[in-house]
Amino acid sequence: MDDFVDRNGRLHAEDVPLSRIAESVGTPAFVYSRATLVGHFRRFRDAFAELRPHVGYAVKANGNLAILRLLADEGARFDVVSRGEIFRVLRAGADASRIDFEGPGKRKDEIEYALDRKVRILNVESEAELDLIDEVAAAKRLTADVGLRVNPDVDPHTHVYISTGKAETKFGLDIERTRRLAGTIAERKHVRLKGLHAHIGSQITEPAPYVETVTRLLDLGRDLRRAHASLVSINIGGGFGIHYRGDEAPEMKEFAAALVPLLRGSGFEIHMEPGRLLVGNAGVLLTRVTYVKRSGEKRFVICDAAMNDLIRPSLYGAFHRIEPVETRLRHGSGGQEGGSGGRADIVGPVCESGDFLAKDRDLPPVEAGDLLCVRSAGAYGFVMSSNYNARPRAAEVLVDGARFAVVRARETYDDLVRGETADPEWIP
Ligand code: LLP
Repeated sequence: MDDFVDRNGRLHAEDVPLSRIAESVGTPAFVYSRATLVGHFRRFRDAFAELRPHVGYAVKANGNLAILRLLADEGARFDVVSRGEIFRVLRAGADASRIDFEGPGKRKDEIEYALDRKVRILNVESEAELDLIDEVAAAKRLTADVGLRVNPDVDPHTHVYISTGKAETKFGLDIERTRRLAGTIAERKHVRLKGLHAHIGSQITEPAPYVETVTRLLDLGRDLRRAHASLVSINIGGGFGIHYRGDEAPEMKEFAAALVPLLRGSGFEIHMEPGRLLVGNAGVLLTRVTYVKRSGEKRFVICDAAMNDLIRPSLYGAFHRIEPVETRLRHGSGGQEGGSGGRADIVGPVCESGDFLAKDRDLPPVEAGDLLCVRSAGAYGFVMSSNYNARPRAAEVLVDGARFAVVRARETYDDLVRGETADPEWIP
């Protein structure tokens, strides 16, 4: 499943002890495994091999340049949602023709940038957006390839914040509007219908919602293809769930077993855009215990990573496995307050009660100075981090076999105030 393994009581990332990384780079730090990332990409692509899938990595999950480069080298495409993400993908050395541009609120400058760079497709989510793309393309005297993002009104059975395919969410176009908009595309000169797209949510742990979505997309695609010879691709989105606890996600081949029979022979290019599935379990967050204290019956393990580094537990009530990095060194007696094991709240130093990495979690005795490994932090970890409480953002480290490299330096205190001034230059 991943390459973060216990060897003689020491957790390693591939062949590198996590403690070595902590000593060299400090904590908190995100640590990524190249082997896990590349392995996941290949297994996903192979599971769907019969469809010759175009796998577009959802950059929002983790946009580090080194991660993007590794995936580009594997032949990945990219799904982006902002000009900044296009910039990152290009900076990592990938070709713009491998980029699909999504999102319900693309600004004019973003559309211009995307058309200038020649991304593969812009997936449209409203009539107003289609108008703007048509207008921008006309000004540039070109024809923009667009897709229509369909909201299929399917319940993905996931956390409400990351559910995107129900009618009441802000995403996509209902099927009737999609048909109507496709009609107007035929009348416009500067846009051409190239694809259909749906993305119904994230951390989806059953194939059924995909089956429903794909069935609707294909029905629509077959109809629309009659009037639009340019309609060549169908993008079924990302959202494939992963193991956080260890038993919740189906195998990639189970998703494939449900979807391949529907999609084979459709005549469409099949695009997918997984993020979490590729990178989620390819990363951990390494943190050091600052203090252990008790309050009433409760044990609090206060560490140097906080909600600003990993907001998923606070924001979604998400579960991340947490374990000590060095189990061999654990002597059981612990410090005066660390004492026995049992349940603990694992928290950061941020001044909010919502600042926790785990609540009421079974944890062996730990004491100040011990290292903890927060699992499954490769997706929506660093990218959602902030400087709240004036905390510099964590370092990012990539491991490859027995070697490692810092792929994003820890922010400095000067970084914290970059662009700020205490002495405003007033503009009258
Ligand atoms: N495509 C589109 C259009 C998306 O909006 C997303 C994710 C993906 C693909 C990739 O989904 P994935 O395969 O990674 O599930 N911050 C949340 C997740 C937000 C997902 C947003 N959209 C979390 O930490 O759980």
